[in-house]
Amino acid sequence: MPRLTRRRRTLGSAEEDERMARHVIGTVEELPPGQRKIVEVEGLSIGVFNVGGNFYALKNRCPHQGGPLCMGSLKGTALPSPPGEYRWGREGEILRCPWHGWEFDVRTGRSLWSPDGCRVRAYEVTIESEDGVAVETYPVTVERGRVVLHV
Ligand code: FES
Repeated sequence: MPRLTRRRRTLGSAEEDERMARHVIGTVEELPPGQRKIVEVEGLSIGVFNVGGNFYALKNRCPHQGGPLCMGSLKGTALPSPPGEYRWGREGEILRCPWHGWEFDVRTGRSLWSPDGCRVRAYEVTIESEDGVAVETYPVTVERGRVVLHV
């Protein structure tokens, strides 16, 4: 049985919660693990992803230059590891923008890195918070076998 996942969306009050409309976007069977569906709701293009049985939704607009982020590939990433060791993991959780390759955690909408802090040719290294670089996410629930997007 699919697990339910409610994605981050900070709501100011119960009134805002009630204003969010429900949009049935299909059945669980139509969106098996590893698949995605891009839908238009409330004037927004939103990608809904099934990652290992959990559902996530991201705004289909890259914060870099507005690329169709949700049409990008889902991959893994290099994990922290000791020098000389190379570990790969989180397969299917990292969404890569098809335009310029910015990568985002499909579970949170947060970027993995910032181009301001990581350039190929660099003489100065800075570490900057990525808090401001996030894709808008929306709650997704499963109700009696149907995937429901809340916008
Ligand atoms: S528009 Fe997505 S990385 Fe540039």
